[in-house]
Amino acid sequence: MLCQTSDELQHFVEEAKKHTKEGKVANYIPELGKANPDQLSIAIHYPDGRCISAGDIQTKMTLQSISKVISLAFVLMDRGFRYVFERVGMEPTGDPFNSIAKLETMAPAKPLNPMINAGALVVTHMIKGDTVQDRFNRLLRFIRGLADDPSIDYCERVARSEFETADLNRALCYFLKQHHIITEDVETLLDLYTKQCAIEMNCLDLARIGLIFAMDGKDPLTGKQIMPDDVARICKTFMVTCGMYNASGEFAIKIGIPAKSGVSGGIMGAVPGRFGIGIYGPALDDKGNSVAGIKLLELLSKNYQLSMF
Ligand code: DON
Repeated sequence: MLCQTSDELQHFVEEAKKHTKEGKVANYIPELGKANPDQLSIAIHYPDGRCISAGDIQTKMTLQSISKVISLAFVLMDRGFRYVFERVGMEPTGDPFNSIAKLETMAPAKPLNPMINAGALVVTHMIKGDTVQDRFNRLLRFIRGLADDPSIDYCERVARSEFETADLNRALCYFLKQHHIITEDVETLLDLYTKQCAIEMNCLDLARIGLIFAMDGKDPLTGKQIMPDDVARICKTFMVTCGMYNASGEFAIKIGIPAKSGVSGGIMGAVPGRFGIGIYGPALDDKGNSVAGIKLLELLSKNYQLSMF
């Protein structure tokens, strides 16, 4: 059974929206602190081209950590599995997304997975190109292709706001550089990483990208294989094991779909073989996930038996 109409979806949004009050917008990136915490929107994209949606669907969000799963797909295609997984691991951490703790206790100091900040910084480091501009444009082109939307760009204000305040990420980078996991200039890497995190779109685009992951890397509407199916499979597996950080276990039990969150309040879902989901709800819980977004997914998963387990 599938959710068929935007009206049906609207009903669930109204129910989940009550929970926005339980969360807070992220403010460690000052620009993100300006978001309206009461917002909640969702889009679902089906392989036959139908798209249903509810809430403030035109509001744009920056991808933040959702970009990590996309940059991972990109470097897996660029560098191959062996190169990538020699530098970043495959295990969930149970720690917050920005934690430095495990890096210190592991030898070698290779980040445990590509979804935590330390791992994502290593992934971004692997994006090929001569300059930041060149590397960023290659990634942006890939994202535009995934969403089939050439107008997607990044938000300069959010990128700058994060660049100016990203001292914890700087610390992670210097640690990784000391251990030769990254080799480039830290400010250059942060410039690229903060631009990547500031790529912005609405929930309709996000659902469209979720659909590509759901359909094993193939765009069902254009017939194009945008990424190899094993790249899409690896990304979805990381979404299940690490996509919601140290809430991934509970999320897998209660909702049971591959999903990736970001501190802007976005969640991208990919229901294997069925559809893509894009959510925006900037009020976050204490683990950095959209509080109403998770409630909404919980309602949908229960009502339409979406769990893959
Ligand atoms: O590096 C950061 O802290 C942010 N640009 C992204 C973190 C994030 O989205 C964590 N998600 N829940």
